Amino acid sequence: MPIFLSLRFREHWVRPALFFGNNPISLAGGAITTAAGVTMIGNWLMEVFARPNNNPYLGIIFNLILPALFVLGLALIPVGIYVRHRALQKAGKIPAVYPKVDFNDRIFRHGVDIVLVATIINFVVVSMASYRGAAYMDSPQFCGASCHVMQPEYTAYKISPHSHVTCVDCHIGSGAESYFAAKVDGTKQLVEVAFKRYPTPIPSPVMNLRPARIICEGCHTPAKFVGEKLLVKSAFADDEQNTETQSVIVLHLGGLDGLSHLTGIHGVHLGHIEYIATDTSRTNIPWVAKQNADGSETVFAASSLNGAVPQGQRRLMDCIDCHNRAAHTFVTAEEAINQAMAVGAVSPSLPWIHKEGLVLLKASYASQADANAKIPAQLEAFYRSSNPEVLATKADLVQAAGKQLVTLYSENVFPDMKVTWGTHPNHIGHMSYPGCFRCHDGDHTAKDGASIPQDCAVCHNLLSVDESKPKVLSDLGIQ
Ligand code: HEC
Ligand code: HEC
Ligand code: HEC
Ligand code: HEC
Ligand code: HEC
Repeated sequence: MPIFLSLRFREHWVRPALFFGNNPISLAGGAITTAAGVTMIGNWLMEVFARPNNNPYLGIIFNLILPALFVLGLALIPVGIYVRHRALQKAGKIPAVYPKVDFNDRIFRHGVDIVLVATIINFVVVSMASYRGAAYMDSPQFCGASCHVMQPEYTAYKISPHSHVTCVDCHIGSGAESYFAAKVDGTKQLVEVAFKRYPTPIPSPVMNLRPARIICEGCHTPAKFVGEKLLVKSAFADDEQNTETQSVIVLHLGGLDGLSHLTGIHGVHLGHIEYIATDTSRTNIPWVAKQNADGSETVFAASSLNGAVPQGQRRLMDCIDCHNRAAHTFVTAEEAINQAMAVGAVSPSLPWIHKEGLVLLKASYASQADANAKIPAQLEAFYRSSNPEVLATKADLVQAAGKQLVTLYSENVFPDMKVTWGTHPNHIGHMSYPGCFRCHDGDHTAKDGASIPQDCAVCHNLLSVDESKPKVLSDLGIQ
């Protein structure tokens, strides 16, 4: 028997605790805690020895609900003791001497030992469970998958180059302050979700996003000199042959070169260009200021401003002013089908597939399940009525194309969140959305008449624009 169970301790603590603890509330608490604890330990052992289960709902049960039950059970024990104590006190039935605890009784001694061991285990379980609960709440699974509101962003995230970066890395800073702010905000959002009061679609940008340079520079070095970057883009026409054309451009990405000169697209914007946007998606940017090396400032203003400074936050341009969709790229229907056809996932050998595919992608469906059922059926119906021999000779390609169109749709359109083609503009280029041309539109002029350049060659060399089998690609040995 442990030595520290001195006589006094026994008289004043153990006996009363056992006496008052013998009540339904405390006993139920003990049972809940034991059951939750055993289930959690069982689950952890399963995770060590078996394949982990990635179902987000199981995650919520094992990492959040069971620990909560475990703690609730523990809390019920003193509550029961207190209630019984009060009841007996009122009735004047508190015994002067508590029923004797006999430490010579072997069974009782073992009972006390078990309670001590159980307390230590409980302590370990609580600390492990709270650690795991916190870690789980930071996981992309919890942020993205357990809540259908995040479905569009989570879907895009999983197919992005950043699918291994956690949501928290970009959306919540490190340190207690940002953790707390995020959890308070998160609780508010949980309430919004519970009462279906959340906005659809979820607006961007996210106001409490960490400063992009802190996020992105954790992994990317802006000082890395990227130099020139070759970009090849395929597009298909709406004719029977789906005629393919290609644009080949060399982007002057630049960076910090060996002589410490900042050049090109990456070199010229960071750290010294500020702007004011007049809409929340930061698409209308009528006012831009550039800090010059000599400390002076050049303001480029849209002619519509007539010299006034617009209302709004003055923001220092950083990575996400161009790379705003780094983790959640939604493409346009045209981009989606062109990319799929360029890699053959939708076969360009199917007549009219570009035109018909676009029609099917852009049609309106009640839900993703609805699109899932209708798109392949309608594609087949199209060929059956207009071109039956295609179904006879290329049935597998038609089927594969139908499946791929469903995938493209479900990666970009989320009817219940009101996210559709074009809801979230991508600022990186200028073909589908204003992008670079938000500022480089030739209409942002300084007092001295200089303007933010729109000259094509400033940003890229155009080696071929929408050409069929461009010679430059065969010169490069790419085609
Ligand atoms: C690489 C950084 C990064 C990661 C990782 C990331 N996000 Fe984002 N997220 C952003 C940026 C940047 C925006 C702002 C987009 C804009 O302004 O257009 C954003 C916007 C959002 C939005 C607002 C709606 C929208 O589409 O613009 C939601 C919701 C969101 N993210 C959820 C998530 C979830 C959930 C995860 C994890 C599964 C995640 N994000 C991971 C960078 C990231
Ligand atoms: C935790 C590390 C990490 C963080 C943080 C991060 N990235 Fe990345 N990023 C990567 C990795 C790794 C790749 C390469 C992925 C690949 O090639 O599949 C990448 C790829 C990219 C690419 C190239 C994409 C492409 O299609 O080739 C861009 C652009 C990019 N990141 C921008 C950003 C921006 C902007 C941010 C900040 C919002 C950011 N990254 C934050 C790790 C990170
Ligand atoms: C003025 C707009 C702009 C800003 C600001 C900007 N980028 Fe980029 N970045 C681009 C463009 C354009 C590309 C090329 C896009 C493409 O490949 O389609 C690019 C490409 C990249 C790539 C891929 C490079 C490669 O080798 O393919 C990475 C990584 C990247 N940027 C990271 C960053 C980071 C980190 C920041 C902030 C420190 C940043 N960018 C700021 C416009 C910008
Ligand atoms: C918020 C406004 C803004 C946006 C958006 C923007 N830029 Fe710029 N850009 C500027 C300003 C201001 C300058 C400096 C003009 C000057 O010095 O005369 C500049 C300069 C440049 C230059 C150097 C021009 C030269 O004369 O050498 C390049 C290249 C460039 N930008 C490319 C891009 C690309 C590519 C994008 C889109 C991915 C983009 N910019 C988006 C504001 C912007
Ligand atoms: C401010 C910089 C900038 C200017 C000025 C500019 N572009 Fe671009 N352009 C880009 C960037 C960045 C991309 C690459 C976008 C991407 O990564 O998808 C691009 C891509 C393209 C493409 C590739 C096709 C495609 O579907 O994306 C074409 C064609 C093109 N630009 C034509 C032009 C022409 C023509 C002009 C002159 C009127 C011009 N651009 C001016 C930045 C610029």
